Amino acid sequence: MHAHSITPDVTLLSDCAEVPGLGFLPVNSFVLHAEQPVVVDTGLSNPDKDFVRDLSAVIDPADVRWIWLTHPDRDHTGGLFQLLEAAPQARLITTFAGAGIMSTQWEVPLSRVYFLNPGQSLDIGDRTLTGYRPPLFDNPATVGFQESRGGVFFSSDCFGGPMPTADLATGPDVREAPDLESAMMLWAAIDSPWARLVDPVKYGATIDPIRALDPSAILSSHLPPALGLNHLLFAHIAAAPDGPEFVGPDQQALEALLASFEPA
Ligand SMILES: [Fe+2]
Ligand SMILES: [Fe+2]
Repeated sequence: MHAHSITPDVTLLSDCAEVPGLGFLPVNSFVLHAEQPVVVDTGLSNPDKDFVRDLSAVIDPADVRWIWLTHPDRDHTGGLFQLLEAAPQARLITTFAGAGIMSTQWEVPLSRVYFLNPGQSLDIGDRTLTGYRPPLFDNPATVGFQESRGGVFFSSDCFGGPMPTADLATGPDVREAPDLESAMMLWAAIDSPWARLVDPVKYGATIDPIRALDPSAILSSHLPPALGLNHLLFAHIAAAPDGPEFVGPDQQALEALLASFEPA
């Protein structure tokens, strides 16, 4: 995991997951250095990961006051339970559906949970966090947010895209990425296949309020940070209903892949 300072108030903790044939999917968590510090998502769940250790290089986990879980997929909850132990003052921001999904794996301590639905806000001392449903999502519990002081928008899975190398995927600036449009269209097809089924007008109406926030930065869980690229990023997700269909490799392709691993 790499730490990058993105704005005076935001540190990126970047990691990535290699996806055979597709590249390297960024997997980002963030620290918002507010009066009441916030950690946004807690990394991959693989056993070799240690999110709390990596976080400790950026902030004393005991100082964390809020954990904003954008949604309870396993690429976002890796260090969640350990962080709740290491941060006894912290409360876990999620939704009723989010807590319900997590309860199938773990006894969610409801006294530590804070339910926040899209459209609701939370005062964290020097700013407010306002929840929004991002236009593209893969989990019904998804809530992104904008913080009021710097205008940064945390978009969860929306605006993602695989990168050709691990260095690009864990880097601090999406401007380095070649062919961003193809990467984002591919990710939309994989992560939100429903976008091809929806009424484009109704779908477009879900983008307009987020575009109107005019974020100072778009921080996706699955794309390097995007500053000053709103026009481009919103144009790419607006095209999702007309994007490609993704069909994954089949058994024949898997067997060919496995054969390629065998010694000659
Ligand atoms: Fe997800
Ligand atoms: Fe994700």
